[in-house]
Amino acid sequence: MAISKDLRLVLGIETSCDETSVAVYKNKKGLLSHVIYSQVHHKNLGGVMPELASRTQLEKIIPVTKLALDQAQVTLDDVNVIAVTNKPGLPGSLLVGVCFAKALAYAKSKQLIGINHLEGHAFSSFLEHQVPFPHLCITASGGHTSLYLITGFGEYTILGSTLDDAAGEAFDKIARILGFPYPGGPYIEKMAGTVDFQDFFGYPRNNPKTLDFSFSGLKTAVLYDLIAKNAYDMQEKKLVTSDELLKKQVASSLLVSIADTFEQKLSFAYKQHPEIQAITFVGGVACNKYIRHRLETWSRKNNLSFFVPAPAFCTDNGAMIAFVGNYKAEQGHYSALDLDILR
Ligand code: KG4
Ligand code: ZN
Repeated sequence: MAISKDLRLVLGIETSCDETSVAVYKNKKGLLSHVIYSQVHHKNLGGVMPELASRTQLEKIIPVTKLALDQAQVTLDDVNVIAVTNKPGLPGSLLVGVCFAKALAYAKSKQLIGINHLEGHAFSSFLEHQVPFPHLCITASGGHTSLYLITGFGEYTILGSTLDDAAGEAFDKIARILGFPYPGGPYIEKMAGTVDFQDFFGYPRNNPKTLDFSFSGLKTAVLYDLIAKNAYDMQEKKLVTSDELLKKQVASSLLVSIADTFEQKLSFAYKQHPEIQAITFVGGVACNKYIRHRLETWSRKNNLSFFVPAPAFCTDNGAMIAFVGNYKAEQGHYSALDLDILR
């Protein structure tokens, strides 16, 4: 059945990792509701446990969807399109969202659209801003770090991505070495702030003449530095210092190294693509106020606009999935009911 564009209501479902999030988006109007359930119990376990994550997705998907519909003051019958993250992510978690979306689409005769989670992040700035095309987008999260050239809705080229660890993963792993809580990024930022975001130890930056990222060497450099400072016991695999200042200095030096790397990648990509008009910074790591400030300052110096989503749209969320679902519906890119998590 053809859908009137003005009336199109999209339900966006995101379950790729440890957030269960559902949003209702109305074409030409914007977000009507947005609910995020974050699985805080992983915090006590030091990282995401895939089996636990998928079981919790299963428990939460129905109540979170009901709440999103209630908050938008609509019913499932009013919804025209069901957009769901179908890749990439933890298989068990993805399957919960995809099976749920397919069941709803089949039972209620709705259009179904599978959304690439990374495309969701890449367009998340549009939830609040009119970002001009073409622009460069840095996506930095716990699972991915990539640089995109974005030329239109759904039109993008990957210029570079991480060869090993993602930026968020580097924050999380080094935080773990330092005995900080999970997720590590916010805590590292807090500790770095107490020593004024200074670079104490000059940890390695990425090669500024390539557009791919690599952060596993940075993790090793920090570890070896702690060993050299007699602060880490390699045999016992644990931190053996009570020097709180040292930990703060490591956190700060790490943060500055990652911010420098992002800035250098942008400089190199901008030289190759002088036609760009703006920079966007998205994904969980984009919650980091220090890196935001650094990239905004760099953008301003280069006469480029800079956009970053609100924190709720930086970390995993259903709103970005609903937004991408809306333009895909506009473009007629629907999925069949055999949608799966592999293609
Ligand atoms: O996008 P996201 O919620 O999930 C993934 O798709 O991975 O990103 C989570 C990541 C974690 O690695 C977390 O440490 C990082 O984002 N993160 C931060 C900050 N807040 C979250 N990293 C640096 N500074 C922050 N303030
Ligand atoms: Zn994500």
